[in-house]
Amino acid sequence: MSRPHSSFLKTEGLGIRFGSFQAVGDVSLHLEPGARQALIGPNGAGKTTLINLLTGVYKPSSGRIYLDGQDITDLSCDQRARLGLVRTFQINTLFPSLTPLESVVLAICEREGLGSCWWKPVRRYTQVHEEAHEILRRLKLDTLAQLPVATLAYGKQRLLEIALAMAARPRILLLDEPAAGVPQGESGELFEAVAELPSHIGVLFIEHDMNLVFRFSQRISVLVAGKILMEGNAAEVGTDPRVREVYLGKSTHIGGHHG
Ligand SMILES: Nc1ncnc2c1ncn2[C@@H]1O[C@H](COP(=O)(O)OP(=O)(O)OP(=O)(O)O)[C@@H](O)[C@H]1O
Ligand SMILES: [Mg+2]
Repeated sequence: MSRPHSSFLKTEGLGIRFGSFQAVGDVSLHLEPGARQALIGPNGAGKTTLINLLTGVYKPSSGRIYLDGQDITDLSCDQRARLGLVRTFQINTLFPSLTPLESVVLAICEREGLGSCWWKPVRRYTQVHEEAHEILRRLKLDTLAQLPVATLAYGKQRLLEIALAMAARPRILLLDEPAAGVPQGESGELFEAVAELPSHIGVLFIEHDMNLVFRFSQRISVLVAGKILMEGNAAEVGTDPRVREVYLGKSTHIGGHHG
């Protein structure tokens, strides 16, 4: 069975120093086509920094990044995005006064290099609108399409951020704490939408809630102090004594059991 435009992402010995501080070191990560992979680790472990390296925000101090075998280490953020490497941010980046429909239309226009496409020929405009509606339907935002973003529940706003990423036609999506700030009752719904994204899109997501991580990832990479401590499935990670020690010993997010 051929799946459209599946990609795999690989790093070799990837690292970055800020001055004398090694924020990420010697990370060799592999994301299979269509993966649902979680990146976990305590606060300050280097998770966001790793995503900034993958997307080209930071230039690595060491190592290489490959997309479908092509070395993309020296490509710009834009060039990587055009190859299908797309991310969302830990912090909400939406325009509150636009509607979801307007937001997604703008994102599609940006992808297509159409500038302010409101003034382009009607047929082109209709195509963009149809695509925008399809993306909003996929993320179950269609009934909210015409409301100002600021009036949406926060969980819906975060779904809209994924919709905007979808407008870039990703082959690999990097989600930095997509459920951050979302009430617990709504975060499952958000991850269900992520799980149901087209199967050719590989997803690497950062998440602190282990219940969500175990429920929605097939593979988990554990980052501690900038290095991959271990990788495995939920059972392997959940029973690993080193992982338990990191979380039960120090983290404020999980457990928080102090003597
Ligand atoms: N541009 C920078 N300059 C200097 N230090 C940085 C820079 N970016 C990140 N760091 C440091 O690198 C470390 C890793 O930060 P990062 O934001 O990647 O952690 P994280 O795993 O995403 O944490 P959290 O779970 O809190 O989001 C931190 O100590 C941070 O202060
Ligand atoms: Mg972070």
